[in-house]
Order: sequence, then C-alpha cells, then structure tokens
Amino acid sequence: MADILATAAGEAASPVPGYPMPRDNRCPFHPPETVRRLTVEEPISKVLIWDGSTPWLITRHADQRTLLTDPRVSIDEKRPGFPHMTRGRAEVARVTPPLITNTDAPEHTRLRRMVNLPFTVKKVEDLRPAIQKITDDLIDAMLAGPKPADLVTALGLPVPTLVISELLGVPYEDNEFFHHQSTIALSHNSSAEEAAAASTALLGFLDGLLGQKMTAPADDMLSQLAARIKAGEMTREEAATMGVAVLIAGHETSASMIPLGTLVLLQNPDQLAVLRDTDEAKVVAAAVEELLRYLTIVHTGVRRIASADIEIGGQVIRAGDGIIFDLGAANWDAETFPEPGRVDLGRNARRHQAFGYGPHQCLGQNLARVELQVVYSTLYRRIPTLRLAIPVDELEFAFEGIAYSLRSLPVTW
Ligand code: HEM
Repeated sequence: MADILATAAGEAASPVPGYPMPRDNRCPFHPPETVRRLTVEEPISKVLIWDGSTPWLITRHADQRTLLTDPRVSIDEKRPGFPHMTRGRAEVARVTPPLITNTDAPEHTRLRRMVNLPFTVKKVEDLRPAIQKITDDLIDAMLAGPKPADLVTALGLPVPTLVISELLGVPYEDNEFFHHQSTIALSHNSSAEEAAAASTALLGFLDGLLGQKMTAPADDMLSQLAARIKAGEMTREEAATMGVAVLIAGHETSASMIPLGTLVLLQNPDQLAVLRDTDEAKVVAAAVEELLRYLTIVHTGVRRIASADIEIGGQVIRAGDGIIFDLGAANWDAETFPEPGRVDLGRNARRHQAFGYGPHQCLGQNLARVELQVVYSTLYRRIPTLRLAIPVDELEFAFEGIAYSLRSLPVTW
C-alpha cells in the first residue's frame, strides 16, 4: 500500500495528501495522524488516490451524516470520476450488474428489500443459540489442542464463516476456496487481472449453487434468491453477485473484529474484566459498540460521487466529484466521542459509523453484533487466563484489504 501511495504522490508532485494514509506502526489501532489532523483543521479537503484523481475526503462525524443521507450523493460506481478503491475494483465495477452496493434509491430500496429479511433483529436473534454453540465448540477444540493457538484460525475466521455459510446455504467445506478468492478480490496488492479472476471464480461458484437451489431449494438465503430468479424478479447474474457480496462481507469483517478486539482487551485488562465479569446483555452490547468504534476496521473509506453541486462547510462539491468518507476519522472525532483514543467499554458509542450511515448502512450489522457479543462474552469467561503468546510488537497486521486485520494472534492460557 505504501508503494502505491509513494508512486501516486510522486507522479502528481502535489501537496494534496495521498489516500489511504499509512498508519503509525507503534499505534496501529489509531487512524493515521494526517487523517486526525484533517478532521480538526480541514474536515472537507482533497486527497490523491491511486489513479491520480483527487476526490474529497470527509472526516467529521456530523458532515458524514449530512452527506451520506443526501440524495445528491450517489453510489453509482459506473459514473466517470467515481473514486474506486483500487484498479481491480474499477475494472470489476464496469461489469457488475445492479446491486445494493452500486445503486441509489429507488432501485436500491427495491433491491435491499429483497435481501434484508434474514438480517432483521428478530431473525438474527433466532440464530443466537446456534452462534453460541459454534463458539463453544470451537473454544472446546482450541482448549483440547496444542498451545499456543492462533485465535484467527481457531475462532476469528471459523465463527462468522460457519454462520454465513449456513445462512446463505454455501457448503462450509469450500471455505478455503472462497476465503482465498475473497482476499484476492479485495486486496490492494492484487493486480486488476487477479482481482477480476477472483471475482469471476466467486461468481461461478455462487451461480453453480443457485442452479442447485433452483431445483432443490432448502431453508437458506440462496434458495430465496433462486425463487426470485424463477419469479422473474432478479436475473441469475444479479442473484449470484448478491450472493458473492454477502459471502465476502459476511465472513471477512467479523473475522477481523474477533482477534483485533481480543488484542485490544488483552492490552486493557481493566476493560477485559468488564466483559469477563458481567452477566448483563446490555453491558456486553455496549462493549461491542465501543470496540466497533475504536477499531473501525473498514479503514479505506466508503466511496461515493456527487450527482449535483453540493455546498457544505464553506466548500462546493461539484457534480462529478468523487467523495470518500473516512469512517475511522468520524469515530475518532472528539466532538462526538471525547477522548477517542481511550477504550471505554462503558461509554455510549451507539452513534459510531463503523457500519457506515444512511441507506447503505451495513446490511449485516445485526448479525455482526450478535456474533461479536457471543464471542467476546464467552471467550474471556471460559479462558480467564488468556494471554498473548508472543510480544505485541511481533504481531503482524494486514492493511491491504477493505477491513484491516491481524494475520495471526498467537495466544496461550
Ligand atoms: C464487524 C462487521 C462489519 C462491519 C464493520 C461492516 C461494515 C460495513 C460498512 C462500513 C458498510 C457500508 C458501505 C458503504 O456505505 O458503502 C457495509 C455495508 C454492507 N455490509 Fe457490512 N460490515 C460488517 C459485517 C457484515 C456482515 C456480517 C454482512 C453479512 C451479510 C455484511 C454485509 C454488508 C452488505 C451486503 C453491505 C452493503 C449494503 C448496501 O449497500 O446497501 N456486513 N458494511
């Protein structure tokens, strides 16, 4: 990532800062220093991205809320000037059919209604006992296995992967294949060809499963999508693309939150004790919101484009200008969250924007919340002596994806 930025910034010889900005290795949880300075000094400013374009960067919590709900702010990634995350994403966007992640209202509202049922609070609460069992079984296996254990492969990745596979109706046995392809499809380190090939492989995989569900439906989301294809409400390509989006978003994100949240708590034992010693669902829920705020794993900004001129904060965003919302900056905006660098599980962090804001706010947020509530409230209670097995400065972070993560988290007890 640093290389991409160095090249882009060098070529343009511009005072505009490159984006995304590298983090300080000494405090990897903190949003980059430049982003935090911009939040205070220049909350609506320009940045330079990989293709040499200079979209706006919006950093303040309040400005993000205003713009992310403004109908003149579009997510139509086919518009020229859209600030794509990478060259690979730009290539894939050209051929992606209409989807909840690239359409505005009213089309977005229509498409989102087709897929939101499994993610309502009620449906997700029904899954809580199954998520608890998955978590307990994985912790049993970890305790029975060798020490140290890697929390990423023992718990972080399998919990959300098992849950989303079950919910969608994707065979869990294929997890290595789809995790590998998702990582390539989203990585800043992949070439455009690699990203496109990974996306095609995932689409083919989901398309094959949809074919099976059309003839032999089951009680899962892909079967619901298959029924919509049969009813003529969706094309098969749209349904497969939707399946890919849910599969990727549904496992990569919680998989990164579980080990990262654990690391934060191991470094803040007084806060870990809050979670370990409570029986109150409200306390656990508040803790999860604070960890979501503090970590803000979606670290490369959510992307939009202006469809008309917009005046805000003394600036004019012109029609056709790209806009990037740095969610970490908003979640560390001291005007909304005083002392943002302090992890305080007792704070009211509900207004965080780790799931985005506005019509495209995360479809899977209720599911992610329950997964994190179950895992965090079970792990430290069942293994009260859990600790890092290597010095913290030897841990390796992965910043090349849409959500940042730990490559591994060796723990012992
Ligand atoms: C900790 C976990 C998660 C985080 C931090 C997260 C974060 C986000 C963010 C920031 C967005 C907004 C993107 C934008 O505005 O452009 C988003 C959208 C989305 N998320 Fe999540 N997500 C998580 C878990 C999940 C899960 C478990 C699913 C599974 C279904 C999911 C599915 C989606 C989908 C489909 C969208 C697109 C919604 C739309 O455009 O209408 N996410 N997520």
